[in-house]
This record gives sequence, C-alpha cells and structure tokens, in this order.
Amino acid sequence: MTNKNFNFKRFRRLRYNSIIRDMVRETVLTKNDLIYPLFVVPGKNVKKPVKSMPGVFQLSVENLVKECKEVRDLGIPAVILFGIPEHKDEKGSDAYNPNGIIQQAIKAIKKEINDLLIITDVCLCEYTSHGHCGILTGEDILNDETIAVLAKEAVSHVEAGADMVAPSDMMDGRVLAIRKALDYKGYEKIPIMSYAAKYASGYYGPFRDAAESTPAFGDRRSHQMDIGNINEALREVEEDIEEGADIVMVKPAGPYLDVIRKVKEKFGLPTAAYQVSGEFAMIKAAGQNGWIDEERVMIESLTAIKRAGADMILTYFAKDVAKWIDKNRK
Ligand code: PBG
Ligand code: ZN
Repeated sequence: MTNKNFNFKRFRRLRYNSIIRDMVRETVLTKNDLIYPLFVVPGKNVKKPVKSMPGVFQLSVENLVKECKEVRDLGIPAVILFGIPEHKDEKGSDAYNPNGIIQQAIKAIKKEINDLLIITDVCLCEYTSHGHCGILTGEDILNDETIAVLAKEAVSHVEAGADMVAPSDMMDGRVLAIRKALDYKGYEKIPIMSYAAKYASGYYGPFRDAAESTPAFGDRRSHQMDIGNINEALREVEEDIEEGADIVMVKPAGPYLDVIRKVKEKFGLPTAAYQVSGEFAMIKAAGQNGWIDEERVMIESLTAIKRAGADMILTYFAKDVAKWIDKNRK
C-alpha cells in the first residue's frame, strides 16, 4: 500500500531508530560548552560537602588542585573559582589581598596545570562581613566606590595568574572600570566575561550556603535585575559590550531561556549562561527522590540552554556531563 494520496508529512520517518536520530539532532552538548564552578576555602585537607548541593564541596587549596586535574582530565576546558576568605570585613579587603585565598588558589593551580582556563568570579559579597556585593553607606551600596574596589580585585586575580575575570556584582560601570585597570597594568589580553543580565533570583539560595555570602540584611534587588524585565536586559548587555565585555552572561539560565535567545540574536557575542545552584539543587533533589530521572533531566536542561543560544554553560553538572559524553558517544 502506498500513501501517495495522503497529504500529511511523516516526521516520524526520522525518529524510528537511534542512528538516524543522532544524525538529525540539531543541538548537541560538547565538553567545550562546559565551565565548572569551584569553591575554595582556607585550611588543609578540607572537603566539606555543601548540603543543598549534593556532590559539591568547599575545598582547601591542595584538594582544589587535585579537583582541577580531574576536571582537566575529563576534558572540561574551564573552571570558575569562588573564594571564601579567612577574614571578612566591612570593605571586603581580602578580595584584593595578594595572599588571599583566591590568589593562593590560582597560583597553586597554575604551578601544576597549564591546560585549564581559570576564570575568577569578581564580587565582594564573599568578602564583606555584611554579605553585600559592595561598599555600604547605611544600607545602600555605593556604586562608584565599589567599582574601584572591584577593579583592584580583578587586577589582583590576574596578577595571581587568572586567565579571565567575571564580574558578578551588577554595579553600573564596573566593566569599564575593570577594563581600564587591567589595560593600565598591561593585561590587555585578559578577557572579561560579564554577568551582564543577572536577575535578583530566588534560585541562588544554595550557592549562598556554599559561598557563605548571604546578606546580613535586605536583599540584592537594588542592583540585580527585576525578574520581569527583558528589554532592560538587552540594555544591560549592550552597555557591558560597549564598556569592553568580551563574553556576556545571562543568569540564571533555565528560567531565562528567552533572554539568552534575544541576547544571542541581537548581539551575536559569545554568550554564556549560568545554570545556578537552585536549578541544580531542584534536579538533584527530585532525582534523589526517584521523582525524575536525574541524568535525563540534566542533559535535557543543558541542551535547552544551548538550544536557546548559549555558547557556554556554567554548571555544577559539568563533570557528570563530561562522564556522560564519554559513556554515551562513539
Ligand atoms: C556572587 C555570585 C552569586 C552567584 C554567582 N556569583 C550569588 C548572588 O548573587 O547572590 C550565584 C551562583 C549560583 O547560585 O549558583 N555575586
Ligand atoms: Zn555579590
């Protein structure tokens, strides 16, 4: 029997077996899409689990170096480092301490590993006693005083050996301040990946346990973006590009796929997306309860982020994805 009288299309022809499905798949995750976030703490032999993020640890420097070797051996090209300092103060001065925790960590990694890109998160919330992302006057964050400190922090990370800096504070003018400071010191080859459209999101909860950066009062709504806004996100991204950002980031990722898509279409810059701690924790928790298939949802969530337009994804699943790729691809 032929079906030549039927005028509908048979999409299923290309779905009947896995060979053909693999051949026509439009979006495929690769290891080069991945950036793995890591948390470094003072001390020796520390490997402290983050309760709300199964499989994620606070690591002391020597354990961090070990972890970075494993990450590199898995074929993941880059890590992003977050430091939890020994001392926190009002002004977050450990952020630019040449012997601070991040600076020590970068030097230790660079001493042993030369084929892993080291990105550092540039913000003050991990370093301030009040947990806010900048210098305070009363309960307000002072914008221009803060960006001067962020520039110092960025320079200090690069002096220690960082390959790229990623400002996550959402102050105005910080990309320009950092670009100028880096260039002035002769670091014009160091790229800036800016957290350009970063929303005031409830999905950061678990991260604040991991980074010990929960604000002592109030929230971050005076600088991070309102969850309902997309036109404003495009203006933020445009401004960061003008100020010198080389890569722009949207954060969180999964709940903001529309923003990723628009940013990629409008500017065509390398675009990063951060699948944040809460997105990770929800998938982990449901998986551990047997309510979803964790591995499937991991791949599906990240494929969706890439399909939306992300060229690279910061994700706590990076190692699991790399292992999945090794297991499942020829
Ligand atoms: C620091 C920073 C945060 C995240 C990355 N950098 C937290 C925040 O803004 O409160 C969140 C990452 C995550 O939730 O995984 N400013
Ligand atoms: Zn911050």
